[in-house]
Amino acid sequence: MPLWKPSPPSPRRASCTSQESLPARESSTSAAAPAWSPSPRARVEAIDLTPQLLERARENARIAKVDIEFREADAEDLPFRDEEFDIVVSQFAHRFAPRPEVAIAQMLRVLRPGGTIAFSTWPPELLVGRTMQLASRYMPPPPPGIPSPMLWGDPQIVTQRLGSAVADIVFDRDSILVPASPRSTFGW
Ligand SMILES: C[S@@+](CC[C@H](N)C(=O)[O-])C[C@H]1O[C@@H](n2cnc3c(N)ncnc32)[C@H](O)[C@@H]1O
Repeated sequence: MPLWKPSPPSPRRASCTSQESLPARESSTSAAAPAWSPSPRARVEAIDLTPQLLERARENARIAKVDIEFREADAEDLPFRDEEFDIVVSQFAHRFAPRPEVAIAQMLRVLRPGGTIAFSTWPPELLVGRTMQLASRYMPPPPPGIPSPMLWGDPQIVTQRLGSAVADIVFDRDSILVPASPRSTFGW
């Protein structure tokens, strides 16, 4: 989850992309594969729950020659002050937090009034969504009360979860191209 530093008040805006795998415009939770390019003048901080993914993110940042401070943290407990950032982006990450209402409240807490929150999710009916639904049939069920991450792919649910905290919600759908080789994508 990369986060950008400040500027003045107005309502927060939200941009939600649902894809086969999505590039957010300028915001992120978890940063292993940033699909965005921060301005060289921006201060960008990023978090992820998984140390191995953070290593990949640091490597990607070195390759892309972008200066990002990464740290291990939970989207449900962001280690940042209130209203600290201009932009908050989550690329396929906060959607895995077990309590969506807590994750979204944290993302909005660290976003300044008038800032932009943007995130990418997968629609349930396309490849990644269907693959996850297939895999979940063979896995133990989640603990009671934990909603499926796939719900983040439904614009109605996203609108409901953002509630009145944001104005100007925009949805977009696009495709993301990844190398066909599992070796280059996943290291298999
Ligand atoms: C599908 S991967 C996406 C990784 C990367 N953002 C990208 O787009 O390539 C999901 C990521 O969400 C992270 N994640 C899951 N739950 C999280 C949480 N509660 N807080 C922060 N990151 C979390 C995982 O560690 C993992 O890196």
